[in-house]
Amino acid sequence: MYCFSVKAVPVRLLAAGLPALLVLGSPAVPATAAAGPARAAAVPYLDPALPVAARVDDLLSRMSLDDKLGQMTQPERRYVTPEEVGRYRIGSVMSAGGSAPSPNTAKSWADMVDAYQRGALSAPLRIPMMYGVDAVHGDNNVVGATIFPHAIGLGASRDPGLVRRIGAATAEEMAATGADWDFAPCLCVARDDRWGRTYESFGEVPELPSAMTSLIDGLQGPEPGGPASVLATAKHFVGDGGTEGGRDRGDARISEEELRAVHLPPFREAVRRGVGSVMVSYSSWNGVKMHANRYLISGVLKGELGFGGFVVSDYQGVDRIDGEKGMTRDEIAKAVNAGIDMVMVPEKWKDFIAGLRAGVRDGTVPMARVDDANRRILTQKMRFGLFERPMADRRYLRTVGSAAHRALARRAVAESQVLLKNDGVLPLRRDARIFVAGRSADDIGMQSGGWTVTWQGAPGATTPGTTILQGIRQVAGERATIAYDRDGKGIDTSYDAAVAVVGEKPYAEYHGDRPDGLALDEEDVRTIERLRASGVPVAVVLVSGRPLDVASRLGGWNALVASWLPGTEGAGVADVLFGDARPAGRLPVTWPRDGGQEPVNRGDGKEPLFPFGYGLTYGGAAR
Ligand code: GLC
Repeated sequence: MYCFSVKAVPVRLLAAGLPALLVLGSPAVPATAAAGPARAAAVPYLDPALPVAARVDDLLSRMSLDDKLGQMTQPERRYVTPEEVGRYRIGSVMSAGGSAPSPNTAKSWADMVDAYQRGALSAPLRIPMMYGVDAVHGDNNVVGATIFPHAIGLGASRDPGLVRRIGAATAEEMAATGADWDFAPCLCVARDDRWGRTYESFGEVPELPSAMTSLIDGLQGPEPGGPASVLATAKHFVGDGGTEGGRDRGDARISEEELRAVHLPPFREAVRRGVGSVMVSYSSWNGVKMHANRYLISGVLKGELGFGGFVVSDYQGVDRIDGEKGMTRDEIAKAVNAGIDMVMVPEKWKDFIAGLRAGVRDGTVPMARVDDANRRILTQKMRFGLFERPMADRRYLRTVGSAAHRALARRAVAESQVLLKNDGVLPLRRDARIFVAGRSADDIGMQSGGWTVTWQGAPGATTPGTTILQGIRQVAGERATIAYDRDGKGIDTSYDAAVAVVGEKPYAEYHGDRPDGLALDEEDVRTIERLRASGVPVAVVLVSGRPLDVASRLGGWNALVASWLPGTEGAGVADVLFGDARPAGRLPVTWPRDGGQEPVNRGDGKEPLFPFGYGLTYGGAAR
């Protein structure tokens, strides 16, 4: 049930002599609010010349309870219409991974997001909505967007400046589509590589994700609210990378001392950089769901760290607090009272609004908490210029998948490659006969990994780009002979070198959990063995979201390159293979002897296959 209330026109409005209308559902907003910007300035909250705090105070004073409840609600696009966004005063709409308009082009994204925005602006107070997406390695939901290396590869680059530039490029491609809120960066500290989200981490020690919070500067821009500036999200607060057994959404059974030393620092740095939002983790800390953890969200994040932005739940995260299906009023009250300001409630968003209203009515959720949540949300909307520029900035459509962005991505790929072994077969010669094999050699989907066009990603030509094989052909040039067979069939001793490009199929989140170990895929083993049987030297290029079990086979390989999940610009791998770029990457995570060694991390006293920070360059010197 959705109630309207008629509100008196605030006296000062009349005193200002502004024409005012009595509107249902909210305190009056003078007709001028609907007028062009020139006259809108008469209404304080629409006046960009005023301090944000004053504008927020003014707007809050005009909002009804329904306006405020709507601001705290974030449905998924499939379950809400633009008309409902206006009717229920919805504060934000989001796309789940891969939830895209059809056709999936940047322009149709802009058309879709603008339609939702027009819905939001049709409400009396004309509060613009924010559109949230997981642009975690480029604007990856959009076909044709530049797909950058996933975070684990960027951690290997040790290049925060590069990561900042990637954030800026991502913000441009997002701005074209109207999406103005990025659920990135993930600042998790991956402590167990069996975790399906290891590749979303910049590394296993806090200083790596902390350094790569430079992505926030790129996304939000030097001046939040400037052109191509989007709201960033530090996620997932806190300790998701430290769960028992690397189980996604599991329980981090660690002391507060370890939580603060290992998992909290990247969030401290993100707050220092002015991140505008924080997303709460599905995981638990010592048995307490993070979504209900008032001490850590309100006490530590908002209190101790001084976070002034707003906190958003994860997707259906509130529903999962009690471990039972479905969202209860008790869960809603627990989450909001813990300090969650906006709830990502994809489908049951009307139930959420009703449940929160009931909580306010019966006092389980103080009105002050609702006002604080709205203040935080509205402050970010004003900080990012949404009231002045609510629509997609179609000037940036030309940047989507642009040559400049792809060149940046190619450089990031090259910087992320980690050379782990080389008996001299690398760099490859340009006058050589080279045999390329492997299921990941000629496959954009395999080299991009999860969160690419769809949530889980998929093998195949899912989006425009350059496969690693195409890159090898491009970089090698005419004098080289490049043969390819996915399985390695046809290789013989006439070849100078073989390159086996193998690894993992795409996955995301818990679908990638590997509690039973990190063994190489059987098909990949067969391919490498077929190449080795020919007697031709073999360089293995591992396209994976994490270290895999290679110790028992490494002796028979002539070279090994950890390529991680490079994205659409596979030529960056070839740049390293041919020596146009010297290998510079260093391990962002410890490489285990075998999966049974997990968790294995710097300083834990275990003997890994390769230590954290390891990486060779040409000429054999360790970096
Ligand atoms: C997912 C992920 C989170 C993502 C959110 C929205 O389940 O945990 O990283 O931002 O839902 O897609």
